[in-house]
Amino acid sequence: MGPTSGSRPATESHGHPPDHPACPPSGPLIIGRSAAIRSICSTAERVAEGDAKVLITGESGVGKDLIAQLIHTHSRRAAHPYVAVNCAGVPETLLESQLFGHVKGAFTDAFRDKVGTLQQAQGGTIFLDEVAEMSLRMQAMFLRFLENGEIQPVGSDLMKTQVNVRVIAATNKDLAAAVAAGHFREDLMYRLDVVHIHVPPLRERAEDIRALIEHHLAGAKRRIRLTEDALRVLETYRWPGNVRELQNVIERLIWMSPGDVVDIGDLPTRLLPGRTDTILPVRERRRQRADDLFRALSDGTLSFWEHVHPLFLDRDLTRHDLRELVRRGLATTRGNYQAVVRLFGMQAGDYKRFLNFLGTHDCVVDFREFRTTGLPENHIVKEPVPPKSPAVGHRKPQRKSTGSR
Ligand SMILES: Nc1ncnc2c1ncn2[C@@H]1O[C@H](COP(=O)(O)OP(=O)(O)OP(=O)(O)O)[C@@H](O)[C@H]1O
Ligand SMILES: [Mg+2]
Repeated sequence: MGPTSGSRPATESHGHPPDHPACPPSGPLIIGRSAAIRSICSTAERVAEGDAKVLITGESGVGKDLIAQLIHTHSRRAAHPYVAVNCAGVPETLLESQLFGHVKGAFTDAFRDKVGTLQQAQGGTIFLDEVAEMSLRMQAMFLRFLENGEIQPVGSDLMKTQVNVRVIAATNKDLAAAVAAGHFREDLMYRLDVVHIHVPPLRERAEDIRALIEHHLAGAKRRIRLTEDALRVLETYRWPGNVRELQNVIERLIWMSPGDVVDIGDLPTRLLPGRTDTILPVRERRRQRADDLFRALSDGTLSFWEHVHPLFLDRDLTRHDLRELVRRGLATTRGNYQAVVRLFGMQAGDYKRFLNFLGTHDCVVDFREFRTTGLPENHIVKEPVPPKSPAVGHRKPQRKSTGSR
């Protein structure tokens, strides 16, 4: 995904005072009671005073982004930009131009000069997410930048600019193992790993679960309460997707639970103790996520721009999740993108914007494989590209899921 500048509010109050903030309410709100989270916050605040590079490790969804933002907002760089760059899934050349910028004519689509994220973060902090995914060539370039602080935009031999940024990197991979396997440069690992903050998985700090749930419920539009039994189930679940998964479960309960009191029977069955599917493999988790979102979109509980789009921009939804979701839409509408637009709670005129959005993030799914069932071959006529006039040719969507699930 492309760079995201730190546009979050300096204090996330969610309309309520934080019940269990482990860190003072300036910068992102970090909820937790555990010794681990308190110690992480105090390390983050201490390290914020200087410019040391920080490597944040931990499973997906534990809060690595949040800790990076905390360091930035507590540092003397706080008035300058915080820019996050995700190194995963971005082609090497695109990442290079994202980070270092490019000059007009550097490559086919370079119609004008573009300032790179390193320069955009001037005076502030750059957050390199999923750093283990950088190619070896990019690693060499980044190492050179760390050594001399100079950036050279793609396609320019002469222009060199000095940039002063603080570097924070994060990964959910074992960097030492990546070094041993020859995928990551040892010298770069040591340069990035000056201060190491490891965020343990949620299951290893179960005290934080209740605090996170209470915080989430307090900020919700709909008031619900969890029984003590239900809370205990949530406290003993493994949470393979960590805080992100917990947030999703609570959000779903807030919107989907029939009554105001949530008991064990109202919890998703996969959370119940003794279930063998509580430790879901990644693929299964993705499928579950897409299923939940799809259900909520198609019954009108959620809408794409209002709910799914921000989740994706906040990187709470991966490209894989988004593609899975689009696949379900196409399966239901037999490959009709315009019907997907309506099914996902968008206006018919949003067709072009929707496809542009998918195209930008490499999430366009080929509609043709969904067109075959029950339709003659000659129905496969349109390419999934935005039409000149998006409203023309709109077909009435089928609201009921015929299911790819
Ligand atoms: N201690 C916490 N207090 C409040 N919210 C949290 C906490 N930890 C994580 N979150 C929330 O959980 C979600 C996931 O956090 P974040 O994106 O920081 O995780 P991550 O470790 O960077 O995950 P990934 O490796 O997938 O990028 C975010 O919505 C974040 O705000
Ligand atoms: Mg992250």
